[in-house]
This record gives sequence, structure tokens and C-alpha cells, in this order.
Amino acid sequence: MMETSTEKILLIGANGQLGTELTEALRNIYGNNRVVATDVQAPPDASSADGPFQILNVLDKAGLGALIRSQKITQIYHLAALLSATGEKKPMLAWELNVNGLLNVLEAARECSIRKVFWPSTIAVFGTQTPRLHTPQHTVTDPVTVYGISKLAGERWCEYYFAKYRIDVRGLRYPGLISYKNPPGGGTTDYAVEIYQQALEKGSYQCYLASDTYLPMMYMPDAIRGTLQLMEAEASRITVRSSYNIGALSFSPQDVTKSIREHIPDFAVSYQPDFRQQIAESWPQSIDDSVARRDWGWKPEYNLPQMTADILVNLRNIKEERVV
Ligand code: SER
Repeated sequence: MMETSTEKILLIGANGQLGTELTEALRNIYGNNRVVATDVQAPPDASSADGPFQILNVLDKAGLGALIRSQKITQIYHLAALLSATGEKKPMLAWELNVNGLLNVLEAARECSIRKVFWPSTIAVFGTQTPRLHTPQHTVTDPVTVYGISKLAGERWCEYYFAKYRIDVRGLRYPGLISYKNPPGGGTTDYAVEIYQQALEKGSYQCYLASDTYLPMMYMPDAIRGTLQLMEAEASRITVRSSYNIGALSFSPQDVTKSIREHIPDFAVSYQPDFRQQIAESWPQSIDDSVARRDWGWKPEYNLPQMTADILVNLRNIKEERVV
């Protein structure tokens, strides 16, 4: 733990699927008190109270600036966003939060001389004309969701703030993130989290994507490791300021079902595609992340069988702890 660190880190959107685990990882590195977690609501359980927490709405520009100054913040991880499925239900809010929230952070970074900013982008910046296999770093970006449109605009803003104001902003185009600790928040890839929980709890699952829908995915430990690795890299190594492609897994609901059946042979899955099917079909199936590998050494560790085994063991442990 870097107790002597002079960094003070602000996390915005700390209660989310990614935010919860990233807060924990950053506190392990920098020390609990050097990481200020914020979200629009108080955290759901006391375990996240291992360090400072404050309510913050990133759309409150004055509140954001005041917090940065009073806490002497040096780095910001801005994770608050509406994801693809929720964004289609609330398009104006998705644009407002995803774009104006980011602009508030970038402006605050400029005004308060913040050393580094992390901001997540997504595979949703790609669209129907993008090559879907091994999608390159630089290619057609014609997103069809509000989420994708807002994140693509955000990527351009990040690059702009680097080029114009030299803000050290770094980003990743995350694929679907799979975790067992916290629920995802309204994405198209959420089935890959739900399917494990339902396999253990009910022995069956109804999937909202068709069985052969391939999407890029990543296990959360890889996502956390990649994020920290990107943020720790020498600034001179970062050649992409919009957001890096970052790949790990590519699988369909059928593949993950087979993988779960290695552990739970009777697991039954039915398919009833909904509006999310169309979103999934506009996204890549696999990602070419060679630029991230070259620039800062990205390499995923988990394959599908390893991830499945790890998730099921951990979910079983959590279940037993609840019973005891
Ligand atoms: N997981 C996200 C979503 O499904 C993709 O970035 O919206």
C-alpha cells in the first residue's frame, strides 16, 4: 500500500458494477483515505464504507469543483453513465449524463490542474458498418444507440482536451464486463452476469439474446487490472487519447451455457430475444486490441472455462455465507 502517496483519487459512480471493485482496488494500492468514493446515492451496504464516501451528482458542476478543491483531488475516475439498454429508455437523460457529466469532469480537470483522468468508453461506439470481427482500433464508428452516440462524442471530447489543454485523459472501450460481486446497470451484455446467478439459484434462465449472438466480453479482474495498468503507464506510451480497444473473450449465450453445464449439467436455458437483440447485432463480435498490447502491455488472463469456474465457486461461497 502506498501510504506515502501524494495522490488523492476521486471516483464518480463508485456504487456501480465497475466502481465498487475499482474503489476497492485503488484503496488497496493508495490507502483507504486517499480514495474518495462518490455516487448519486449512498452505497447499498456498509462494506463500501472502508473509506471516505460523499454524495455527488456529476451534473452539479459547482459541487464537483468544490469537492475537488476541498479534498485536494489529483486524479479522477469518472464512471457515472447510463448504459445501452437504459439509455434507449431514457435517451435525453443518457445524453445529458454521459456527455455533460464528462464535460464537467474535463472542465474541472482543466481548472483544478488534475494530473490524470480515467473515463470508460465502450464497444457501443461501433455500429452496423463497422467490421464485426477483430474490430480494429481505428475504423468506422456509426453507433445506433444513444449510449454509443454519447460515448463516441465523449471520446472526441477526451481527445480534444488532451490536444488542446494537455489533460492526461485515458480511456478504455470496455466490452461486456462480467462480475459476481455487483449487478451491472442496464446494459445489453448483462445476460452474461445474470445467467450465472440464475444457474445457481433456479437451475434455469431465460435469455433476452438469441443463442448464437457473439459479443466481446471480459471478466472483472481482467478489467480492473487493465484499467490500473493503463493509468500507471508512462504518459509517453499513451498514443490513443480517445479510448483504447481492449479485448478478452468472445462468446455467445450458447457457449456460456455449455461452459456452465460443465459444472451444473441440468442447467436449462430458453431464448426470448427482446429489443436488446438489435443493439447486440450492431456491435462487434470480437476486438482487435493490438494497439493497447503494444502501447502499455495489455494482456487478458481469463478464458471462458476459467471465468466460469471462478464465478461459480465464488457465488456458491457467497450463498453459503448468507445461509450461515
Ligand atoms: N456493457 C455495456 C452495455 O451492454 C457495453 O459497453 O451497455
